[in-house]
Amino acid sequence: MSKLRPAKITVNADLGVHIIDKNIYGHFAEHLGRCIYDGIFVGKDSPIPNDEGVRIDIVDALRKIKIPILRWPGGCFADEYHWKDGIGLASDRKKMINTHWGGVVEDNSFGTHEFFRLCELLETEPYVCGNVGSGTVQEMSEWIEYMNFEGESSMTNLRRANGAQKPFDLRYFGVGNENWGCGGNMRAEYYADLYRQFATYCRNYGENILYKVAAGPRGDNYHWTEVMMREAAHLMDGIGLHYYTRVGDKVVTRTQPDGNEIYLRDNDQSRGSATEFGENEWFGIMDAAWFTDELVRKHSTIMDKYDSDKKVGLLVDEWGTWFDNEPGTNPGFLYQQNTLRDVVSAAISLNVFNNHADRVRMANIAQTVNVLQAMVLTEGEKMVLTPTFHIFDQFSPHQDATLLPICLDAEDYTHGEKAMPGLSVSASKTKEGDVFITIANPNPNSGVDVTIDIRPCAVKTVTGNIITSGKMQDYNDFDSPAKVCLENFAGAKPTPTGVQAMIPAMSVVAMKVK
Ligand code: AHR
Repeated sequence: MSKLRPAKITVNADLGVHIIDKNIYGHFAEHLGRCIYDGIFVGKDSPIPNDEGVRIDIVDALRKIKIPILRWPGGCFADEYHWKDGIGLASDRKKMINTHWGGVVEDNSFGTHEFFRLCELLETEPYVCGNVGSGTVQEMSEWIEYMNFEGESSMTNLRRANGAQKPFDLRYFGVGNENWGCGGNMRAEYYADLYRQFATYCRNYGENILYKVAAGPRGDNYHWTEVMMREAAHLMDGIGLHYYTRVGDKVVTRTQPDGNEIYLRDNDQSRGSATEFGENEWFGIMDAAWFTDELVRKHSTIMDKYDSDKKVGLLVDEWGTWFDNEPGTNPGFLYQQNTLRDVVSAAISLNVFNNHADRVRMANIAQTVNVLQAMVLTEGEKMVLTPTFHIFDQFSPHQDATLLPICLDAEDYTHGEKAMPGLSVSASKTKEGDVFITIANPNPNSGVDVTIDIRPCAVKTVTGNIITSGKMQDYNDFDSPAKVCLENFAGAKPTPTGVQAMIPAMSVVAMKVK
């Protein structure tokens, strides 16, 4: 395998200002396919070991990656979810059709109480998304009262009757989801007004101050961000950007003269196989991951105009790869495998989020179990950790660390006529005082020698780990669960000014420097 021109990284270990919010390593679990049911939640009567219906092996696995925050119940499902259907005796709960996702019957056996139990088991912060598209202001307001009010009221009496004496003290609340699309096909101007109205009745109870999240744009819909920031920034703490890494978009849109996009139809374009692809598709996904950087910069520039103090967070509350569903599975269930390509593209996105820690305060990969770029796949009692699980494990020291500014000089990765940056890098100073560096090499053909200058540190030791594999299409399955996983990295050594390392082709390396 050939090598590229040596790269140089300078890490300014004394110039850190911004904290990498641990919520950048957040996750998302929707009532979609086999994410909740037959995934996280198997029910109390299942032979699979569970705690109140929540699968214990999944909880044990996810605790390892320190999930800081979990978004629920959707997604598109959120805007047709009526929370009162999901409380009380499970056998009495109303059934509904999950019209967005496969038209299956939703029996509401996983509801508010079950979600908070899941978060408790995971030791994660709950993030609930409310219903604007088909719900009412009263319904949303009562849900918050039910979850957060301690005193005497009909909602709190109901909560107590359902077994929770103390309020859940929910902090993160989303006021609708993708209201430009599945959440009501609204214009930005209309949703901005609705947001103001709904958010007004999302009350704070006791000491608990809600962190209110407005539904944000789809990808590069800058008009949406402009309108929302202009009209409603004073009533929000965060705005959610949704961007999926995929080649080609199934949605056909038209931009109207007023700047709003309308969604005409889905086209027949394939999103490609998750496991059968060549370098063209590899490059396309890496390129789509790099586009995250442009999106974050451009949305941030708009936000700066209305919020120069950066009070409002840009929350990438849905992101990840999206391919065609695995053959033979329900297309509405979005079940896909997960290869080395998912790992390297996720590393690019996570490094982008870290490097924009001044504005990006949260990101939630879609979705935790059995859906899209999942951490865990299940089949009956069997469970396997995907390559993406390992990148969340690998990057976890960045959580709440101080972002360090870097300078990077690396040869581009070129494919045909196209080129992209040859390395993706971010660095932070952990609470323990170590310098932590994550480097992705998206080039499948060449390793890169890297000289890392860490100023003004005197480096004593460097330890590291790596995710790579023999083939870009490699994945983990039930028969071969550890094909793509985290391994010790022996390719780095300390130098008088930093570290010298060789970053292999199509790999992600993390190094801790003391
Ligand atoms: O994550 C799958 C879907 O993608 C979500 O329900 C929706 O918000 C987005 O379009």
